[in-house]
Amino acid sequence: MATDWVLHRSTSINFLSFVVVLSSLLLGCICSSSPDDAHHTIRVSSLLPEPSCKTSLAPQQADDKRSSLRVVHKHGPCSQLVQDKADAPTHDEILLRDQSRVKSIQSRFTKITSTSTSTSTSKTDRVGDSKADLPVQSGSTIGAGNYIVTVGLGTPKKDLSLIFDTGSDLTWTQCEPCIKYCYKQKEPTFNPSVSASYTNITCTSSVCSDLISATGSTPGCSASTCVYGIQYGDSSYSVGFFGKEKLTLTSTDAFDNFLFGCGQNNRGLFGGAAGLLGLGRDKVSVVQQTGTKYGKYFSYCLPSSSSSTGHLTFGKGRGVPSSVKFTPLATIPQGNNFYGINIEGISVAGTKLSISSSIFSNAPGIIDSGTVITRLPPTAYSALSSAFKKLMSKYPTAPALSILDTCYDLSKYSTVAIPKVSFIFSGGTNVNLDPSGILYAAKASQVCLAFAGNGDDTDVLIYGNVQQQSFEVVYDVAGMKLGFGPNGCA
Ligand SMILES: *[C@@H]1O[C@H](CO)[C@@H](O)[C@H](O)[C@H]1NC(C)=O
Repeated sequence: MATDWVLHRSTSINFLSFVVVLSSLLLGCICSSSPDDAHHTIRVSSLLPEPSCKTSLAPQQADDKRSSLRVVHKHGPCSQLVQDKADAPTHDEILLRDQSRVKSIQSRFTKITSTSTSTSTSKTDRVGDSKADLPVQSGSTIGAGNYIVTVGLGTPKKDLSLIFDTGSDLTWTQCEPCIKYCYKQKEPTFNPSVSASYTNITCTSSVCSDLISATGSTPGCSASTCVYGIQYGDSSYSVGFFGKEKLTLTSTDAFDNFLFGCGQNNRGLFGGAAGLLGLGRDKVSVVQQTGTKYGKYFSYCLPSSSSSTGHLTFGKGRGVPSSVKFTPLATIPQGNNFYGINIEGISVAGTKLSISSSIFSNAPGIIDSGTVITRLPPTAYSALSSAFKKLMSKYPTAPALSILDTCYDLSKYSTVAIPKVSFIFSGGTNVNLDPSGILYAAKASQVCLAFAGNGDDTDVLIYGNVQQQSFEVVYDVAGMKLGFGPNGCA
């Protein structure tokens, strides 16, 4: 059914472009930015969250060999975690935590850049570099959180809702007994002593030392059991035993001896989730540990609103939809575990912004499921924001919302026409953002352009999760490709 629909749709798109080409030939003009090409006409109410969950179709499992998990927004009505609305962070808090995640990512880049002039890329050196400000994956991600999936752990299997994060490697969950502190989580805390399949990792095991690159911290040792510790940018952390356990992803797919952190001392803004699912590049990530079965290939769709659901899918199954467009996954020279991307340009309403290509080539770029708002080099952001402002000039402006400075009061409108925004990734891959990836709405009277500028043009560019919404985002890690397909959550 899904396949029919895709076929149908691409046929009509081809037909449409044929008509457009034909009419421009007849009219003797190349109307590259006709109004329909240039704008999205959207209902203002579609930008605002709805009070109840609209579940999308169950991920295509039966007709497909792939393994899908349902993805929900952590604080939305589709999440079982937060029932009390008062627990949900405000937009200001979300954006503030987002900024602290970004700072933590950037300090890691800066630090590594400044010490990697020598040719040393050995593990130990990298550890030294990243140790001070610890990680990649900041608590802010975790705090602002955003997207969770439910997996099964142990024998008998216990369901645990974990925040999924492409900027993290180690998967961990809170474990009994909580030696020092466990934060409040929705599901019962995992207890390894009642699981028939749990095993401790010994300190002398080579996988114990693999924790260095996965966590940025040297593992400890207690009663000959390997102890992991991971700290996040905002002083959230998890410490506990490094163990092996049976991980059940779907009803048909389980993995014995999955390496994970059994956290007995955990603190932070994890908002009721039981822990974290690490989807980074490092050896210990879920992607690598399940690599034999799934070919280091996964994809997800992040729902465009907190009241709908998306999916996280492992493996290629019957293949990639033809609507998915690929760009190379870039290697980050600094040698961390992020997924690197290269952006070549940005278009607004069908017109490519004049941003010197050196602006993009001078900043490393990553895609991150845990950063909310895309961070651009300030030169690129100001070009984007001024082009956007020009095309939105008929709408009244509104005050800035935290880091978002281009905001509108749309409360007097039922529909609005907003300029289309596309990103051009290396290889010429053009990704036309969903309206939900262009605007961030606090309320109808404060709807903002969902982008922010970095402090400096050389700071790492981060392609965040708002801009990824509604796309099928495909990580072909083995093939070193990243893909974007429209309507991924359908
Ligand atoms: C794992 O190691 C810790 C520390 O030695 C110990 O307290 C715990 O009982 C061990 N768990 C299992 C299942 O062996």
